[in-house]
Amino acid sequence: MQLVKTIQEVRAQVAAWRREGLTVGLVPTMGYLHEGHQSLIRRSAAENDRTVVSVFVNPIQFGPNEDLEAYPRDIERDKQAVSEAGGDLIFNPDPSEMYPQHFTSFIDTTETTELLCGAVRPVHFRGVCTVVGKLFNIVLPDRAYFGQKDAQQLATIRRFVRDLDFPVQIVACPIVREADGLAKSSRNTYLSATERQAALVLSRSLRLGREAIEQGERSAARVIDIIRTELQREPLARIDYVEVVDFVNIQRVERIEGETLVAIAVYIGKTRLIDNFVWN
Ligand code: PAF
Repeated sequence: MQLVKTIQEVRAQVAAWRREGLTVGLVPTMGYLHEGHQSLIRRSAAENDRTVVSVFVNPIQFGPNEDLEAYPRDIERDKQAVSEAGGDLIFNPDPSEMYPQHFTSFIDTTETTELLCGAVRPVHFRGVCTVVGKLFNIVLPDRAYFGQKDAQQLATIRRFVRDLDFPVQIVACPIVREADGLAKSSRNTYLSATERQAALVLSRSLRLGREAIEQGERSAARVIDIIRTELQREPLARIDYVEVVDFVNIQRVERIEGETLVAIAVYIGKTRLIDNFVWN
């Protein structure tokens, strides 16, 4: 397993693999890897001859008052996690490698980013799509792996890949949870012990919403109400949004029919957590 810092080095290595006729998978990450990321790397390693993992805390997807500086970083730990999971190459560029002076070109999206996180994090998806588009152009992977935990990100990446004809297959992977239900996230490290306990309200409220749908509830408003009621019972939780949308266009639905995303964002203390499930 090797680590490189420059675009030129990634291109040289991928070109050498291509000359041998090997397939390449890409797992884009912001580092501080956990089992969720490792599940993506394992899947890529199983489906491709070689796997590239990018570790880059992408400054342009953070708003001015967000946690860019505080975002956890530990490249030594990440090297261990990538190698354990079967990755072959870490691309760990400095911001100046990705964003040279006078960087002024972006991938912008509309429909899928109007609601949910897009409504409250105005620059976020432009930053995500731009860096992911750059990574696709740098690595030229056959397949790229994304977690369903960031469901709106996944839908948005699928959309720009289709709209802009990027020759890559997007592979969606299930949410990985702690034994008690909390969705794995690098941001869980911000939680105190009390907040960690309070954060269980996210998966608990979603479970109640899912159970209602399983029992035949089809009204989005009613499911939202069930989830909100449970979230409001937790004093440390502050709701950012609870939404029911179609999983392709990320637009609100009144009835739960077809592939539907039930998504929430909740502050536990100062930490904003997201979670969701997809009903089909
Ligand atoms: O999901 C993430 O960690 C990031 O948004 C991504 C896709 C690596 C882009 O920076």
